[in-house]
Amino acid sequence: MEKINAVITGVGGYIPDYVLTNEELSRMVDTNDEWIMTRIGVKERRILNEEGLGTSYLARKAAKQLMQKTDSDPESIDCVIVATTTPDYHFPSTASILCDKLGLKNAYAFDLQAACSGFLYAMETAASMIQSGRHKKVIIVGADKMSSMVNYSDRATCPIFGDGAAACMVEATTEDYGIIDSILRTDGKGLPFLHMKAGGSVCPPSYFTIDNKMHYLYQEGRTVFKYAVSSMSDVTEQMAKKHGLNKDNIDWIVPHQANLRIIDAVASRLEVPLSKVMVNIQRYGNTSAGTLPLCLWDYEKQLKKGDNLIFTAFGAGFTWGASYVKWGYDGDKI
Ligand code: UT7
Repeated sequence: MEKINAVITGVGGYIPDYVLTNEELSRMVDTNDEWIMTRIGVKERRILNEEGLGTSYLARKAAKQLMQKTDSDPESIDCVIVATTTPDYHFPSTASILCDKLGLKNAYAFDLQAACSGFLYAMETAASMIQSGRHKKVIIVGADKMSSMVNYSDRATCPIFGDGAAACMVEATTEDYGIIDSILRTDGKGLPFLHMKAGGSVCPPSYFTIDNKMHYLYQEGRTVFKYAVSSMSDVTEQMAKKHGLNKDNIDWIVPHQANLRIIDAVASRLEVPLSKVMVNIQRYGNTSAGTLPLCLWDYEKQLKKGDNLIFTAFGAGFTWGASYVKWGYDGDKI
């Protein structure tokens, strides 16, 4: 029997219109463009500020574009996975809302929670589903409305994050392209350093939790920074060694966009020049599960069939990993 590979056949994306600049932020908290640019590398981020719209709105826009670009019949989709930390509701899943909005009749759908590593986990999940032979076409989405849980009076976190979503179609192929391998890790010891204190089953919402601002993202930045640099660099190097990849035959590194200094550190460990690293943090900030597919969306035209891509991400949990993808189509022909 021929080997089935899982290949990405298209990308769709969406970022909301409202641009929150460093200039505007510096009127909200005690910060400035120079600090944000040198410590994080974000110039502006997008915010979904229309009332009543949540993550499924971002996901829907991205997935609709994907369906159009790939000329996909809604009946042909087997499954939808939405990686997100900011679901529309605790339940039902954002993926089920998305299914309805896309008019999918033959799909099942679920949310996947792995924080900023969510898209990596979704990519590996979809690849395994396709390789099993039981699924032919899976939509994976990375979507987050980070502004829904950022405290805009906390200067240590509010410059970092933004809202956005992007989606990929993953399909079966017998060609030698696709999602080749992943190394994914989780270590729950990361909990104290990056979490939301209330709103879950341990500490349900109450007047106390609201009064004490416990529904915002909490981060010990320096600790997370340290773990992110070492974990992403180590796992990317491990993946490269495993597949004989090096600075000469890696075409692109696709890193999570949390901090430009982290991206620099990962690239320099592999001695890969920044010209081969996808970077859009300056325009969108950290969109959590959205960062990796938004990079593909922005760089799609530059991608060529057969390109070697290494994805890497790090997030709350801690969760982290790297995936090796042999790109399946010429982006400039789309
Ligand atoms: O995506 C999930 C994973 N998340 C990450 O990967 C994020 C990892 N962490 C980081 O990217 C960085 O730690 C931050 C960007 C969050 C912070 O940068 P840092 O270089 O680690 O700064 P710091 O927290 O050590 O703060 C340095 C100084 C402090 O002042 P003192 O104590 O030295 O006087 C802060 O109060 O910078 C101050 N500071 C600011 N100053 C101006 C913190 N935030 C700001 C700000 N503007 N926005």
